[in-house]
Amino acid sequence: MTTLPTPFTELVGIDYPIVQEGMGPFKTSKLAAAVSEAGGLGTVSMPGMTTEPSVAARTLREHIEETASLTRKPFAVNVPVGRAADGEVLPVSEAYIRAVVEARKADPVIARQLRVLTTSAGFPGEFRDLIADAGLIHMHKVGSTRQAVKAERLGVDVVIASGYEMGGHTHTVPMHTFVLVPNVTEAVSIPVLLSGGARDGRTLAAALCLGAAGVAMGTRFIASEDNRDWHRATAKRIVDAAEGDDTIFPGVYSPARGLRSAGVERLTEMMRSGATDDELLAYKDQALIRAEEDGDLDSGILPAGQVASGIHDIVSVAHLVPEMAAEAAAVLHRLSAAAQLTRST
Ligand SMILES: Cc1cc2nc3c(=O)[nH]c(=O)nc-3n(C[C@H](O)[C@H](O)[C@H](O)COP(=O)(O)O)c2cc1C
Repeated sequence: MTTLPTPFTELVGIDYPIVQEGMGPFKTSKLAAAVSEAGGLGTVSMPGMTTEPSVAARTLREHIEETASLTRKPFAVNVPVGRAADGEVLPVSEAYIRAVVEARKADPVIARQLRVLTTSAGFPGEFRDLIADAGLIHMHKVGSTRQAVKAERLGVDVVIASGYEMGGHTHTVPMHTFVLVPNVTEAVSIPVLLSGGARDGRTLAAALCLGAAGVAMGTRFIASEDNRDWHRATAKRIVDAAEGDDTIFPGVYSPARGLRSAGVERLTEMMRSGATDDELLAYKDQALIRAEEDGDLDSGILPAGQVASGIHDIVSVAHLVPEMAAEAAAVLHRLSAAAQLTRST
């Protein structure tokens, strides 16, 4: 078995530097367990940003318990941190952070497994102490070097540097993965994960070459047999996607990237004709649910990254995760052997 240790795998206690990131509001409890079982780090996603906070927190807790019942290995939870116009953290984001802390407190088995909280969107400065005191490893997703430096300064353990080509909510200032990741790895000394465009062992090897300690992926895991909470049509749509099939549409905190559909066109049209934020949010939530639960990829919306154009098969996670690590190790070994050969001739 090739384990491919990095500072990230050592910090979290996993075999491979491969993370399945949060893909809310889509459910990923079963997928997260499969990725963790395979030796990577699976992530339980948040179940929606528009639900009443106490209901949302209860649903997240159920999803955490489901994942914990399916694996004995470490896993993560993702909480996007939204802020209201007055700058306060949204009650639903706060409820999710507290639900993660409570889940660990209530059950020592869950406390051992639920090791990582990944925050995204805004930075949860006012909850940093709560997260650290709970014993969680805190990862934070960033789209710029400035945000990465700030996160490190405020005590975050790992940053995920995510480039503009990523699926889901992307960044207002477009910084692509290949430029962003080396900038971030030069600027901080904590482990950095590359996100946005990774899909196989070669892209994992490239991430390590750029100074990252692993990769964090969303889109690759949609096209997986283990993504059993989603309609099967979503995996097939990823495999069928070609270059140019993705587009940017208005998201909750920033622009989002997904596959072109009548649902995305309708959302853009609603925005142009002056729909309110609440109307846009309600429409989008329904369109996301139509895609995930009903497999309606015409009037529905399926977020996905540009990397969908390079994904051609529906894989088993138990095969993909170790295979990626083995391929990355083989690529790095081959390059190192070729460099030695060049030096000696
Ligand atoms: C369907 C879907 C839903 C997503 N939802 C979230 C989310 O709830 N929170 C978050 O931080 N990122 C979300 N993302 C972004 C992913 O966590 C990840 O950063 C991204 O997929 C990485 O780029 P890749 O798609 O090229 O692998 C989502 C991505 C997808 C494809």
